[in-house]
Amino acid sequence: MNKIIFIILFVSAIYGCTGKISVNKLTIAEGRNIISDSGMVVSAHPQSSRIGIAILRKGGNAVDAAVATEFALAVCYPEAGNIGGGGFMLIRQADGTTDLIDYREKAPLKASRDMYLDASGDVSEGLSTETHMASGVPGTVDGMVNIHSKYGILSFRDVIQPAIDLARKGFPLTDGQAADFNSNRQNFITRNLTPPSFVKDTPWVAGDTLRQESLAQTLERIRDRGRDGFYSGTTARLIVKEMERGNGIISGQDLSEYRASFKDPVLKEYHGYRIISASPPSGGGIVLLQILGMISPYNLKEAGFHTWQSVHLITEAERRAFADRSKFLGDPGFTEIPVDRLLDDNYLARRMSNYSKDSASSSSKIFPGSPLAAVSEETTHYSVADYLGNAVAATTTLNGTFGNSIIVDSAGFLLNNQMDDFSVKPGVPNMYGLVGGEANSIQPGKKMLSSMTPVIIEKDGKLFMIAGSPGGSTIPTSVLQVIINVIDYGMSIRQAVDTGRFHHQWLPDHISYEKNSLDSTNILKLRSMGHELRERNAIGRVNAIMILPDGKKAAGADRRGNNSACGY
Ligand code: DON
Repeated sequence: MNKIIFIILFVSAIYGCTGKISVNKLTIAEGRNIISDSGMVVSAHPQSSRIGIAILRKGGNAVDAAVATEFALAVCYPEAGNIGGGGFMLIRQADGTTDLIDYREKAPLKASRDMYLDASGDVSEGLSTETHMASGVPGTVDGMVNIHSKYGILSFRDVIQPAIDLARKGFPLTDGQAADFNSNRQNFITRNLTPPSFVKDTPWVAGDTLRQESLAQTLERIRDRGRDGFYSGTTARLIVKEMERGNGIISGQDLSEYRASFKDPVLKEYHGYRIISASPPSGGGIVLLQILGMISPYNLKEAGFHTWQSVHLITEAERRAFADRSKFLGDPGFTEIPVDRLLDDNYLARRMSNYSKDSASSSSKIFPGSPLAAVSEETTHYSVADYLGNAVAATTTLNGTFGNSIIVDSAGFLLNNQMDDFSVKPGVPNMYGLVGGEANSIQPGKKMLSSMTPVIIEKDGKLFMIAGSPGGSTIPTSVLQVIINVIDYGMSIRQAVDTGRFHHQWLPDHISYEKNSLDSTNILKLRSMGHELRERNAIGRVNAIMILPDGKKAAGADRRGNNSACGY
């Protein structure tokens, strides 16, 4: 199959599309909302989507394209794309088999439960987010090498080379990126030994070229030596040296021992569709499936779109799912997680037994359930579909925008500040306002609980949708809304992704909503029922692909950000 030469395959209908472009002399469609006949990549930057699609056109499958896209994002979208962070990649092969690779960061061996507390037991401001100590052991490179060796059909060299070329030759910054680099300038200067390539004397403007020679060289070491090009040798030495400079705790042993792992995804049926998502240490999949399970007995269509009735129902389910998250979810290697019981329909019905359709509950009176009794933030998501019927949904992150803004000197890549996703002290919220307890406490070698929710949906045993989002705690609820917008409200993927969103996460006890997403009558009614509502900036940035009844693929690249779809 990989030898097939596509003569001129083309994009049929295009709406909201910015046009056709030529990549390696091949014509592809590009835009936010294209429809394609064959392969498609939707990611946070036009460059990474183009690289992914060029790999498909070269005969690669969805995993080849996903690995190429992930490395490309590390170059063209350093806000979140990374080799110094981690993520989750969900795969569904054309024959329906699914797999999940967990390349989440780990706490270094020198980490300890109270490492972010001062002498009086209070959280030291910024220690888990802005310093060398904020970094977990990176997982992306081992994840990509492993997923590629299990499923890829092109050579590893083929899939990583475009990212190397992009880093060396440079690419034009988007408007949003110029602003991101300018606003983070001071952090880049004060937290690094030598000013990285992200700093220049005059402010960045859209169209300026960013070149990253040190990063190109690091990627070359990975190209030539696979995981050893990162976890041992020069790159590992540079990481350890960087740690020593800034009192960080990642050691050579942490790096050499890091291994990504394959695991079973979680899944649940919802209104005739099978929803497949990431299992722990991401809580995203379980939170999403719990909310779907809790709302599934109710008729959302009848309740109406963004009415007080539907917002109330959904946020009450969200409140209960996030309460469970705070107690039960963490790294399954360290904490026993009652996954089946948390997703059991009877349990979820019991969770909603104190739901009143007329008034808000108070989070102070909603506690985690008892399933055992029955016995400046940035992440990025990309979706890939190939011409063979394989699908990939992957979410990857440094946690904060540009992670901790610390670049490994002479290696050109940013470090994550993922340690903040642990519960640094019981009851103390992390940067996303999430609180947690023992299940997510810090222990050496443990993975911090995530909200990343890559999702693949089947209808009648066939691929139906691929989706995911950044947004910290709002990831599962953003993905949820896209799912119900399509399944219950009958929207196109474009509408489902672009329409407004709202969110509740148990604590803090309020509904947040995007400007213009709810009308004033519904807001007033929800307030009168006892809900607190707060308007906020964008919630999530979903990048999705939907398979249409005729087999064509429709892109939903979120209007929030510079997301871009490529297809042919
Ligand atoms: O793993 C998590 O849940 C977080 N580190 C994700 C961070 C994130 O989505 C930031 N994006 N806006």
